[in-house]
Amino acid sequence: MCGIVGYIGDKQAQPILLEGLQKLEYRGYDSAGIAVISPSGKLNLVKRKGKLKTLRDVVEPDPLPGTIGIGHTRWATHGEPSERNSHPHTDCTGEIAAVHNGIIENFHELREQLKAEGHQFKSDTDTETIPHLVEKYLKQTGDIVEAFRRAINELEGAYAIGLIWTGNPDIMLAARKGSPLIIGVGEGENFIASDVPAILRHTRKVIYLDDGEWAVLTRNSVEVYDLSGKKVEKKVHEIEWDAEAAEKGGYPHFMIKEIFEQPRVLRDVLRGRFQDGKIYLSEANLDLDYLKKINKIMVVACGTAFYAGLTGKYLIEKFTDLQVEADIASEFRYREPKIDENTLFIAVSQSGETADTLASLRAAKEKGAKVISIVNVVGSTIARESDGVIYTQAGPEIGVASTKAYTSQQLSFYILTLLLAQIRGTMAHDEIEHLEKLLHTVPDAVEKVLENADYVKKVSLKYVDYPKAFYLGRYLNYPNALEGALKLKEIAYTAAEGYPAGEMKHGPIALVDDQLFTVALSPESKVYEKMLSNIQEIKARNGVIIGVASEGDTEITRFVDDVIYIPRVPEEVSPPVVVVPLQLIAYYIAAERGNDVDQPRNLAKSVTVE
Ligand code: AGP
Repeated sequence: MCGIVGYIGDKQAQPILLEGLQKLEYRGYDSAGIAVISPSGKLNLVKRKGKLKTLRDVVEPDPLPGTIGIGHTRWATHGEPSERNSHPHTDCTGEIAAVHNGIIENFHELREQLKAEGHQFKSDTDTETIPHLVEKYLKQTGDIVEAFRRAINELEGAYAIGLIWTGNPDIMLAARKGSPLIIGVGEGENFIASDVPAILRHTRKVIYLDDGEWAVLTRNSVEVYDLSGKKVEKKVHEIEWDAEAAEKGGYPHFMIKEIFEQPRVLRDVLRGRFQDGKIYLSEANLDLDYLKKINKIMVVACGTAFYAGLTGKYLIEKFTDLQVEADIASEFRYREPKIDENTLFIAVSQSGETADTLASLRAAKEKGAKVISIVNVVGSTIARESDGVIYTQAGPEIGVASTKAYTSQQLSFYILTLLLAQIRGTMAHDEIEHLEKLLHTVPDAVEKVLENADYVKKVSLKYVDYPKAFYLGRYLNYPNALEGALKLKEIAYTAAEGYPAGEMKHGPIALVDDQLFTVALSPESKVYEKMLSNIQEIKARNGVIIGVASEGDTEITRFVDDVIYIPRVPEEVSPPVVVVPLQLIAYYIAAERGNDVDQPRNLAKSVTVE
């Protein structure tokens, strides 16, 4: 889950590489490095353990000259975070340099083979086999392009690679299989990167490399081939996002900026979806006849995306005649789910690159299922391998902790559910129109919650020192309890657990003591009374409780220590509103603790390895 970037042009490469790595640092920040070929043809390479700033402090006072270079920011998989294991890695001559994102699964045997042929390895990484393999074939062919092609044909596993050679500083080589890689097409310059924000300030023209494709970039051309060496014609896409979208816009962290973007994002998700009671998902390329004949849905994802999927399960089962199984991808791919051509597989992913979700998607397709994915990153692998895609329109989500992508995934499930209900005839026209009207109240309700952020902050800061927390929810807001706990875990590092509130008395309530606080999701709902009795069970053990409740609810104040009110919205559309105070609680506690909110320890934004 690293970030790679490359530049070939007429400008000095170093500042472009460093800026690109800055935009990709959310993908991994164990170490960073760049390699640039100088005008005299020398390969200058600098890499440092730790954040990009450490590298900047070294190279900015004394820049590496040259107009071609590659860069890398690392999330360690093979070889501990250290300077030795940082990228770029070189061959024995030190003339070939490579950066890589992914895992070379057969690197052990390649390494032993190359060692037997006399190659000297300097790191413990899988990546270092790449420049040595190219070196081997360069000796045999004298042609760096052919040497690169032969080398990548030997690699098993996942990779996005950037490679340069001092022997020909007018070309940069790139390849992709399993890990994301885009090519940015400029005027007299070209770029490679793991993700669009890294090159957006320079070009909006992007080529998406597909699995098994590689490319030769010069200053004025980009040629793409398949592994056999056959040329591949590629479409150049125009990116709509602007660079500013990937900036902080005056907020202290991307996460809080993205939380406050939600009202706009949710209006965008609903825009153009409804007309005269009809639901439009035209760009999603959904096969409506197929959706009519399916008899089961599998929703599969990881982390926060899975909790959005779980909300989707509750909605589809509530408003249609379909049974829905929701599963965590890393389990789905190894169990024996019953899938056939009448099963719809729904993959949910912000990045569209999560390895376990992608592998589950491919497994389901092999069994005959059709795939719809709910994805944020346009052109990502999961999107391109799906039969239909609903884009969540949330724009770039930079904070590792997902927020606006989650609520836009939830809202996308409402739209898909209404479409299913419409074509399967499980909701009458006026019922659809009614729910559509309710959905249009959600962005305003979220706005109201955010107007109350200062109060939520005041409440949250009372709980900064608690080492443990419970999040309790029922029915449509049970997935939000899981999501609230995940947010507090991943950025505040509090041992938090989300539970179906009714499950407390079956064990977890034993953990209630003065070191634990509970967040009870109890908006207006058919299960409100049940929630209230679960709250009283905890209060009976002197538990400390924050209640998230609907405006005007005075009853709850008798049983909780703090109340965070949300606008009164009907239960069926409450999930994307109820979760917002939970995002804020986690954010304010983490920020108060001085944690790196946007790049929490041990995490990365896109998990592209198993
Ligand atoms: C959420 O805040 C985390 N970043 C993580 O759980 C994430 O949801 C998970 O890795 C799935 O990512 P995806 O949506 O990009 O597939």
